[in-house]
Amino acid sequence: MLKLAVLVSGGGSNLQAIIEAINQQSLFATIVTVIADRPCYGIERAKAVNIPTYLADRKIYRQNLSSKIAEFIPEDCDLIVLAGFLSILNQNFIQRFNGKIINIHPSLLPKHGGAGMWGLKAHQAVLDAGDTESGCSVHFVTEEIDGGKVILQTKVDVLPNDTANDLQQRVLNVEYPTLIATIKTFYNENVRFNNE
Ligand code: GAR
Repeated sequence: MLKLAVLVSGGGSNLQAIIEAINQQSLFATIVTVIADRPCYGIERAKAVNIPTYLADRKIYRQNLSSKIAEFIPEDCDLIVLAGFLSILNQNFIQRFNGKIINIHPSLLPKHGGAGMWGLKAHQAVLDAGDTESGCSVHFVTEEIDGGKVILQTKVDVLPNDTANDLQQRVLNVEYPTLIATIKTFYNENVRFNNE
């Protein structure tokens, strides 16, 4: 059974999708810890179902946030899932868990990724660019922000009168199955370190 650590900063609806997939036995995994970088609803979702949680507040830890988080990730953790996690993890962290960290991003990378491109900003950038399709990407986390190898993407249409909020909701609906399907690929050990 895969042991997951899930990192959150916001509403935690992707975390909730993982919890539900595990409960429905469609995903053979266990969440060993949920770590948040700020008080947020995501961490409350974990507490509600008795998953061990840790709040590594980014305003308190600042420079050593990544090492604080690393302290709470058990040695035998198979996969670290960034599910709406907004802090940037440092080089030491990424090298220590190389090939075991994935992130979900709400655009079709390499489009509309990089520093500051998160949440509604990514959806607004899609609209501003006049793109006719968008979607989500799950990718390995490397030192380049949103630059690691893409594992899975799902597309959605951008409709003529879409607002950023409309698009966000349509993309979120495909994020959940895309994230779950990606985690399932890690049943196969060969995928785990194949992040080149
Ligand atoms: C999701 O749309 C996720 O793709 C995005 O934040 C949202 C979190 O929602 N992540 C990023 O923008 C990272 N660059 P959730 O907290 O309800 O899962």
